[in-house]
Amino acid sequence: MQVPIQLLKKYDVPVPRYTSYPTVLNWDMDIDKSKWKSSFIKRFNECNDQDGISIYIHLPFCEKLCTFCGCNRKISNTHDVEEEYIQILLKEWQLYKDLMPQKPVLKELHIGGGTPTFFSPLNLKRIFDQLFNDCIIPEIHEFSFEGHPNNTTFEHLQVLYNLGFNRVSFGMQDSNPEIQKVINRIQPQEHVERVVQWAREIGYESVNLDLVYGLPLQTLDRMEKTIQDALTIKPDRIAFYSYAHVPWTSKVQRLFDENDLPIAEEKIRLYQLGRNLFTQNGYQDIGMDHFALPTDLMVKTRNQGKLHRNFMGYTVQQTGLLLGLGVSSISDIYDGFAQNEKTIHDYYERVKAGDLPVFKGYFLDETDQAMRKYILDIACNGKTTFNDSDLDTLKKYTFPELDILAEDHLIHWNEKGLEITELGLHFLRNICRPFDLKSLQLKTDKNTFSKAI
Ligand SMILES: C[S@@+](CC[C@H](N)C(=O)[O-])C[C@H]1O[C@@H](n2cnc3c(N)ncnc32)[C@H](O)[C@@H]1O
Ligand code: SF4
Repeated sequence: MQVPIQLLKKYDVPVPRYTSYPTVLNWDMDIDKSKWKSSFIKRFNECNDQDGISIYIHLPFCEKLCTFCGCNRKISNTHDVEEEYIQILLKEWQLYKDLMPQKPVLKELHIGGGTPTFFSPLNLKRIFDQLFNDCIIPEIHEFSFEGHPNNTTFEHLQVLYNLGFNRVSFGMQDSNPEIQKVINRIQPQEHVERVVQWAREIGYESVNLDLVYGLPLQTLDRMEKTIQDALTIKPDRIAFYSYAHVPWTSKVQRLFDENDLPIAEEKIRLYQLGRNLFTQNGYQDIGMDHFALPTDLMVKTRNQGKLHRNFMGYTVQQTGLLLGLGVSSISDIYDGFAQNEKTIHDYYERVKAGDLPVFKGYFLDETDQAMRKYILDIACNGKTTFNDSDLDTLKKYTFPELDILAEDHLIHWNEKGLEITELGLHFLRNICRPFDLKSLQLKTDKNTFSKAI
C-alpha cells in the first residue's frame, strides 16, 4: 500500500514511542523511595508465582562513539571499567533480591546498552552465573541481548547461548561506507554477515537487525542498497528506526551538518521504500518500527493478540513486572515506574551507599492506567474497547482527536471502541496520542520527542 505523502507530512510531528505511559517526561523528578520499595514488593508477590518476572540490564560502555547515537552510553578506551561495573550491578541486584521473599522466576531477560558485547565473554558469564543462581529459569523463556557486529565474537555468542540466551539483535544501521564515515561507525558488511552466520550455526532462534533511516547523506539509492544487504541475510526481525534527531539531549548529534540530514519529505520516502521492500520480501509490519518474518514468534504472538510493549519495545512475554538494573535502567511495576540514576558516577555512589539507585519515577492513578491500556492495545493489537467509566474523560480530550484520525481513514471508531485501518498501521504513534492525556493537557511535545516518521 502506498501511503499518500500529504498524510505522512501531516502526521510527521513530535510524538513519543510509547514504551511507557505516562512518558518519562511526565514523571516526578524525586520519587518516593519507600513507596517504590513497598510497591515493588507487593507487585513481586502478585506476579512471581503466576507469570514470573522480566529483567532488563543496561551495560553502558562502547569502544567508539557513533555520532548519531541517542542511547545512554559511555565511551571507554579501556576495558578496566568492566570490573567495577559488574561489582556495582551485582550489588544492586542483591538490594532487590533482599526485597524478594522467594526466588524470582525469570521468564524474560534483555541486555541492552551501550554495547553489551563490550564486556568479555568471561565477564558476561560471571554476571549471569550469579544472576541465574539466584533465579528459577523456566523452560520457556526469552533471553536476548544486543551485539555490536564489530566486536561480537563467536565466543560471546556461544557463552551466552550456553547460558540460555535464544535471541540476539545486531546494530547494522547502514551499510554505505560514506554514511558510516559521517556517523563514525566503520562497519564492513562482512562483520554483520559473520555474526549472523555464527548466531545461526550456534542455534539462536531469532536474529534481529537494526537499521536506521534519516541518517546524514542517506539517499533512496543508498537506502535500497542497505536494505538489500539486510534482506540477503534474511534476519527473523528487522527494527527499522527513524533517526531520532535530539541534539538537545544527545549533544554528539550537534556534530552533524544539519544540511546533510534528509529533509522531512525525503525521510518519508526512505521509510516508504523500506516498508515496501520488507513487506514485498515476506516481512510483516508489527507496528512502530518493527518487521518480522511470519515464522518468528513475534508475528505468532501478535496474531494471537498477546503482544506486549514496554521499555524493551515489543515483547512476546507478559510478566507484569520488569526490573531494570544498571545505570539509567527503567523498572515497570504496572502501577509505577522508576528510573535509575543516569550517570555512572551517581549510579555507583547510590548503590555503594546501599540505596536503590532510582531517582525519578511515577505512580499511575486509575485514569493513567486506563489510558495506558488503550495505548498498549492500539500499539500491540491495533484495536481497543472503551470502558463506560472513562467516557467523560475520553469525550473531553480524546474523541475530538479521533474524529480527525477517522477523517483521514486511519481508524474506525465509535463510543464503544476503536480499530485501526490498514492505512492507520503507518501512524500508530499518532493514533496513540489522543489517549496521552498528559501531553494533551500540558502540550509538552515540542523539542522533547523525535518526530513520528
Ligand atoms: C544500544 S544500540 C545496539 C547495540 C550496539 N550498541 C550497536 O550500536 O550495535 C541500540 C540501537 O538503537 C538505535 N539507535 C541509536 N541511536 C539512535 C537514534 N538517534 N535514532 C534512532 N535509532 C537509534 C540503533 O539502531 C542501535 O542499533
Ligand atoms: S549506536 Fe551503539 S555502539 Fe554506537 S555509540 Fe550508540 S550504543 Fe554505542
